[in-house]
Amino acid sequence: MSASVWIYQVLACILVIFVNTGCCRNPRRQSLQKYEKSESYMLLCTDCSQTPLIQKSRSQEHCARKCKMKNFSCRAFNYQRHNRKCHLLPFDRFTHGVQKQANINFTLYEKKEYVRECISGTKDSYRGRRSWTKSNITCQAWSDNNINEHTFNPDRYRMQDLRENFCRNPNNDPGGPWCYTTDPNVRAEECGIPQCSQDVCMRCNGEDYRGKVDQTESGKECQRWDSKWPHAHRFQPKKYRDKDLRDNYCRNPDNRLRPWCYTMDPRTPWEYCSITVCDSEPSEDTDVNTALSCIQGDGTNYRGTMNITPEGVTCQRWDSQFPHNHSFLPINFKCKDLRENYCRNPDGADYPWCFTTDPNLRIAKCTHISRCDAEATAKIECYEDNGAMYRGTLSTTRSGIPCADWSPHINSGDSHSTISHVGLERNHCRNPDRDKHGPWCYTSPNNRLVWDYCKLKQCESATVAPQPNNLTRPKISCFVHINTRIVGGHEVRGTDGSWVVSIQREKVHLCGGSLIREDWVLTDQQCFTSCLERTVAPGGLCVCLATTEMLFET
Ligand SMILES: *[C@@H]1O[C@H](CO)[C@@H](O)[C@H](O)[C@H]1NC(C)=O
Ligand SMILES: *[C@@H]1O[C@H](CO)[C@@H](O)[C@H](O)[C@H]1NC(C)=O
Ligand SMILES: *[C@@H]1O[C@H](CO)[C@@H](O)[C@H](O)[C@H]1NC(C)=O
Ligand SMILES: *[C@@H]1O[C@H](CO)[C@@H](O)[C@H](O)[C@H]1NC(C)=O
Ligand SMILES: *[C@@H]1O[C@H](CO)[C@@H](O)[C@H](O)[C@H]1NC(C)=O
Repeated sequence: MSASVWIYQVLACILVIFVNTGCCRNPRRQSLQKYEKSESYMLLCTDCSQTPLIQKSRSQEHCARKCKMKNFSCRAFNYQRHNRKCHLLPFDRFTHGVQKQANINFTLYEKKEYVRECISGTKDSYRGRRSWTKSNITCQAWSDNNINEHTFNPDRYRMQDLRENFCRNPNNDPGGPWCYTTDPNVRAEECGIPQCSQDVCMRCNGEDYRGKVDQTESGKECQRWDSKWPHAHRFQPKKYRDKDLRDNYCRNPDNRLRPWCYTMDPRTPWEYCSITVCDSEPSEDTDVNTALSCIQGDGTNYRGTMNITPEGVTCQRWDSQFPHNHSFLPINFKCKDLRENYCRNPDGADYPWCFTTDPNLRIAKCTHISRCDAEATAKIECYEDNGAMYRGTLSTTRSGIPCADWSPHINSGDSHSTISHVGLERNHCRNPDRDKHGPWCYTSPNNRLVWDYCKLKQCESATVAPQPNNLTRPKISCFVHINTRIVGGHEVRGTDGSWVVSIQREKVHLCGGSLIREDWVLTDQQCFTSCLERTVAPGGLCVCLATTEMLFET
C-alpha cells in the first residue's frame, strides 16, 4: 500500500468520524451479521463433553468476535446481559442433549450456518445436518475410510466441521456441499442443498415470507433490522412485531413489490431480494374468507365495490395509466384484487384509496367506506324508497316493542284496502300501505301503541342519488297512515269516518287536508301548486283537490 493511499484512508476515516461517529466501530457493528438472535433465550447442554467458555466482554458484538477464535469451535453464544458475560458454546441447538431455554437474563446468538438447511450465496459455509446426496445415497462418515477412501480427516480439517456424515464443502467445490457416499460405485457426490432463495417460496408480494434469504438480488449483504448501521431506518423489529423483522432476513414489512432489505453497502440504502415465487398462487376462494365489504384496520382486506371518492369523483381503473400513470399494475399485485376501479389498499396505506379520473387529483382516500366495527355496533338496516319492498326479518318497533303477527290483520277480508298482502310474513316489519316513514308493524293487542314504526333507515344510496331536475323545488310529503288510527279510543278502518292529512314540506307541517276518498285529499289551494280541480268553496275559500299520489310524488 503506498503512503498516499494510506493517508487518504486516514483522512477518509476522520471525515466520516465527523459525519458519523460510527466510522471506526464498523467492524464491531458488522460482527453480528452472521448470527440468528433469540432475545431472552439461552442454549443449555446437560451432557455435553465440551463445556461453554465463559468470558468477560464489552458487548454482544465483542462476544461475536470472540466466537471466531481459531482454537475453539464456537457455534453460538449466550450473552448474559447484566454482567456482560459471553458463554461461548461449542455446541448448537441440534447437538444431543441441548435445550433452548427461555431465560430473561440472556440473549442467544447462534451462527446461522448451524441452524439453517439452505445456502446463502456462493461463499456459504454449510453446517447443516443433511447426510444424503442429491441422488439419495447415504453419506459416509468423514472419519470413515471403509467404503470410499479419502484424506479429508476431521482432525486435519478442524475448521471445516467434518462431523458425522453431514454434507460439507471442505475444498470449496463450486457445486456446493458434498460427501463421500456409502455406495462403493459412487465415490463422492454433491448433496444438492437448496439455495435459501429457493428453499422457501413466497406468495403474493411476499408479505408473509419468513424464509432465510439474507442478501439482495445483486448479491449485497443485508443489514440487520435491529441495527442502525450503515442505514438508519424506521423498521425497528420491536415496533413491527407481526412483520418478523428477524436478523437480516429479507422481508416486506411495507407492502413493496417483493421482500427487500437495507444493505451493508453505505451507497445502497435498500434493494429487493430475489426469492422464488410459489407455483400455486392462492386461489380466489381462500381470499374470500378474509374479504370484507367494510373496513377493518387499514382496509387491506377490503374487497367491496366503492369506486367513487368522498367528493364524488370516479376512480381511475387500476389497469389504466390515464389520467394518472402509476406502478400499481394489477399483474404486479396479484393478491390485492386491483379490479376495475374499486378503492383498494395495495400498499399498506391507512385507508383504501384510488387514483381519480380528475387529472388534477391524483389520489383520493375512500374514507367514506364504513368501518366494520361501526357497522357491527350501530347496524341499522335500511330500505329503498318507502320500504314497501323491505323483506328483512326485523320484528321490533323503534322503541323495541315486539311486533305482532300480520295474519289476524290480513284475514280481515277487506277487498277495498290499499294494503298489499305481499310479503306480510310472520311479524316482520313491513310497509304494506307504502307509508312515507317506512316499514312498521302491529304490536300485541294489549299494548298502548297499536302499531309503530320499526328501527330502520332509508338507504343512503337512495337519498344521495342525484336529485331529478330541480334542486330548489321543495319536496312535499304526505304523512298519512291509511290503515289504522285512533278515533274515540277504538280502532277504525281507512274507509270509516273522516281523515285528517298533514301536508309537509321538508318534514315541516304546511297545511292540513281531508282525505275524502282513499286516494284523494281536499286541501287549500296555496298548499299545493298542481291541483286537479280548483273550486271556490262556500264562504269564498279556495280549495284544491289532489290525489295522494300527487302528494307523494311531488
Ligand atoms: C485460544 O488461543 C488464545 C490465544 O491465541 C488463548 O488466549 C486462549 O486461551 C485459547 N483458548 C482455548 C480454548 O484454547
Ligand atoms: C435473572 O437474574 C437475576 C439476578 O440478576 C436473578 O435473580 C433471576 O433469577 C435471573 N432469572 C433467571 C430466569 O435466571
Ligand atoms: C431416499 O431414500 C430413503 C431411504 O433410504 C427414502 O425413505 C426416501 O423416500 C428417499 N427419498 C427420495 C427423494 O427418493
Ligand atoms: C409517469 O410518467 C412520467 C413522465 O412520463 C415519468 O417520469 C414517471 O416516472 C412516470 N411514473 C410512473 C409511476 O410510472
Ligand atoms: C330551477 O327552477 C328555477 C325556477 O323554477 C329555474 O330558474 C332554474 O333554472 C331551475 N334550475 C335548474 C337546474 O333546472
